Amino acid sequence: MVIMGMGNSSINLVFHHGSMLPHEHVTSLVRPVRICASFHLNSVTWAVKSTSKDQRWKGFVRSCSVTEFVIASDEKYGNKQVVSLTPRLYDYVLENVREPEILRQLRVETASMRGSQMQVSPDQAQLLAMLVQILGAERCIEVGVYTGYSSLAIALVLPESGRLVACERDAKSLDVAKKYYHLAGVSHKVDIKLGLAADSLESLIMNGESGSYDFAFIDAEKRMTEKYFELLLQLVRVGGLIVIDNVLWHGKVADPLVNDPKTNSIRNFNQQLMEDKRVSISMVPIGDGITICRKR
Ligand SMILES: C[S@@+](CC[C@H](N)C(=O)[O-])C[C@H]1O[C@@H](n2cnc3c(N)ncnc32)[C@H](O)[C@@H]1O
Repeated sequence: MVIMGMGNSSINLVFHHGSMLPHEHVTSLVRPVRICASFHLNSVTWAVKSTSKDQRWKGFVRSCSVTEFVIASDEKYGNKQVVSLTPRLYDYVLENVREPEILRQLRVETASMRGSQMQVSPDQAQLLAMLVQILGAERCIEVGVYTGYSSLAIALVLPESGRLVACERDAKSLDVAKKYYHLAGVSHKVDIKLGLAADSLESLIMNGESGSYDFAFIDAEKRMTEKYFELLLQLVRVGGLIVIDNVLWHGKVADPLVNDPKTNSIRNFNQQLMEDKRVSISMVPIGDGITICRKR
């Protein structure tokens, strides 16, 4: 960590670690912040508090390092301390995931493939499966299958009579998914729709399937999320869930200096959801961030 530019109004902090994402170059890490941060390094607990009046940076930490790190937001949130995941703490989380052996095998095979970073994390998949179970879901939809990790996690917990409509445009990654549905003995539960997801969802609506699905997971082209959400809101029943992945977009949604089209579309979508009275929402910082929406 480097502390820079200590002045009357701000402290700039740079937290650096090997686990930082490649796009996070040093200049983007220099920020005026107004936080109370404490962390443990070499058996010493360090605390930092800035005096910045710039409210935009309240409680905002760009990245973290060392072994443990706790940030506290300001009095507006009751000085609640929120733990920030370090690599070590995240390893601990993963050690506490009950990942079925077949999912582990799929994850290992996927790891050597192009785009493997797109796959949801094991802790995310476990949460999706639990949501499906809590709902007692029988009819599910996934938008964006890739090699099938999240869809297999869902299919594994569906009852024998359950059905997962799996929408994906890439036949090659679907081949891997199909292989694992077969190995896991869940092929009969998965209805693969090869093609553009919006077309597949529109076909389901045309088929008269509106209001008949319990659960949907959106994890495809980010600029299309709003479109998928609107279609799925028709397909899902009242009380059903729509879960959206990547709502934190590697933290870029909270960085006002990042304004690329994908980040902006996710940011706008998150903002619209905040005001959308058709659903109850909960944004959960797991993986790259998910929002769980319950149709009212
Ligand atoms: C983030 S990955 C999905 C990861 C998957 N949920 C998992 O956990 O392994 C996104 C997938 O969406 C697919 N995709 C992107 N745009 C699409 C579209 N318009 N229609 C269908 N699939 C699409 C991509 O081919 C890619 O496989």
